[in-house]
Amino acid sequence: MQDVVQWLKDNGNLKIIDEALDVELEIPHVAYVEVKKEDSRPILFTNPVNKAKGIEYDMPVLMNIFANKALTEKIFGKHPDAVAEGIEELLKLKPPKTFKAKLAMIPKLFSLKNVFPKRLKFRGECQEIIIPKEEVDLDKLPILKTWEEDGGPFITMGQVYTQSLDGEMQNLGMYRLQQYDKNRLGMHWQIHKDASHFFDQYQKAGKKMPVTVAIGGDPLYIWCGQAPMPHGMFEMLLYGFVRNKNAQLVKSITNDIHIPRDVDIVIEGFVDPELTEIEGPFGDHTGYYTLKEPFPVMDVETITMKKNPVFAATVVGKPPLEDKYMGWATERVFLPMLKPMAPDLIDYNMPENGVFHNLIMAKMKTLYEGHAMQFMHAFWGVGQMSFVKHALFVGEDAPDLEESEALTKHILNRLSPENVFITKGIVDHLDHSSAKQFVGGKLGVDATGEEVEEGVETLLTDSELLEKIQEINANVLELKQYFTETKNPVCVISVNKKKSQLKMIKKLKVLKEHIKVLIIVDKANNDIEDLYMLVWRVVNNIDASRDVVLEPFIAVDATNKGEVDGFEREWPGDTFCTKSVLDDLQKKGLIDIDEKFIKEFGLLPFT
Ligand SMILES: Cc1cc2nc3c(=O)[nH]c(=O)nc-3n(C[C@H](O)[C@H](O)[C@H](O)COP(=O)(O)O)c2cc1C
Repeated sequence: MQDVVQWLKDNGNLKIIDEALDVELEIPHVAYVEVKKEDSRPILFTNPVNKAKGIEYDMPVLMNIFANKALTEKIFGKHPDAVAEGIEELLKLKPPKTFKAKLAMIPKLFSLKNVFPKRLKFRGECQEIIIPKEEVDLDKLPILKTWEEDGGPFITMGQVYTQSLDGEMQNLGMYRLQQYDKNRLGMHWQIHKDASHFFDQYQKAGKKMPVTVAIGGDPLYIWCGQAPMPHGMFEMLLYGFVRNKNAQLVKSITNDIHIPRDVDIVIEGFVDPELTEIEGPFGDHTGYYTLKEPFPVMDVETITMKKNPVFAATVVGKPPLEDKYMGWATERVFLPMLKPMAPDLIDYNMPENGVFHNLIMAKMKTLYEGHAMQFMHAFWGVGQMSFVKHALFVGEDAPDLEESEALTKHILNRLSPENVFITKGIVDHLDHSSAKQFVGGKLGVDATGEEVEEGVETLLTDSELLEKIQEINANVLELKQYFTETKNPVCVISVNKKKSQLKMIKKLKVLKEHIKVLIIVDKANNDIEDLYMLVWRVVNNIDASRDVVLEPFIAVDATNKGEVDGFEREWPGDTFCTKSVLDDLQKKGLIDIDEKFIKEFGLLPFT
């Protein structure tokens, strides 16, 4: 990754911070603030330290590698749409009919030989240094603790390489890894993920599972690790396809798993199928802490590395963050792979403030009644798309999916309780809103049709409407109406919640002529003027099967749930920065933020 550092200097406007900064909170806070800026930059921290443990590390920490769209595109070496085009071409490949067509196909087929990873017989640069088991000490790696309430330090950009029990299938997944002590890591592969399926096989067979974790190397490995490849397809095939160059793999020293030769650091070990340990809490990419839960544990056998390794890491929390740019590329590249099951799909968009799986907008050509519903079911039934909680479908006449304001108006003009569809399905392992972990509500909106005829009967001003609502419920504190020029203005209210909001919604029936869509959020930590973060909050906080009602109007209870709602799971807290750390970094000139920035992105709690 030394080469990557040089490459980022040349191509990515790399920022270098030489000041000694703590791996606990300080480094993550600097990176967190940076990546929220427009045109944010990758950062190399050359002097990471751990003040509490008295450690000065001998390798730098590299963060925000995917700092913006332009850099992500440069990492790919082409626009992700171009990768998608290549995939689409492959999927549509037909036997050539003429000699000329046969000739034209040769280069395409020839380039396919580059897709398959090559297993090298010799050792890789990543094995220049080999640390034997007795000397393994994970404290020598600058592993970050991002958030104050994190259960410990976590490797956040680990490429986790695993294989099936019979060795036939290989997998690369990006899963976070909690450092427990000098030689044990928690394996946070969630229940629906490939490594978890492999783990089940080892567990049934009562055999130890080999795992190799790699850090660094070509940034495209990192992207491949998070790519939702179908089960059984090794992500290194995708690497070869994008690069048009075989991934070059070398064998791990203590197991049979092969890893890219040029990664910076390799941690090899075995997972005991009988043992789990509490993992977390961890401030996650949902912007909430994921709660403590048992996960398998890896005993480290050896660590190998390059002579001058660089430790790659990322910070997750509230959007926008680095996963915005990785997710953008994923969304583009995977479009052609969705088309075989949804052939009239034109495009889709998963905005980062919907933390990807919480919100999808899709544009399609509708050929028959119920077509959009058919696609919703298809999405909810396939691979990682099935985690999607809320799916909004528009027709081919809709604005571009990235034009969020025009698109929202288009949807609101077509919205009616009749075309809102609520069902249940599997939800992301991290979803906190469903009554039961793993299964929850799904909401689909079919806005592919014509504009609705009926709009709001009598539109009131915000203050008039607030007054009328407060006469019914004094716990409503603020109100703002959005998109009042559409058939379905969205009325957002913030409350000081004392009771279940569903009861209040019923009482608001008398205001039916003034309200078409009502969204309720807690007053604490929500700014009703900040639409970007409101979307983030609402789609995170609701289980549509419980929190969305269609009578007397469309109403969404996006407040935090608890006893008054009959909610029995623990409700997690938001990820917040530590104020003293932000203040200190600001004083040192390492970040430059103001109150507006802090509130806009929910960096600190507010009431
Ligand atoms: C920064 C980042 C951190 C992630 N952490 C985890 C994690 O801890 N556990 C997990 O199961 N998935 C995590 N993911 C998502 C997986 O990488 C993603 O679902 C991937 O497709 C899984 O690969 P698999 O299908 O081969 O298991 C993370 C993604 C990103 C971008």
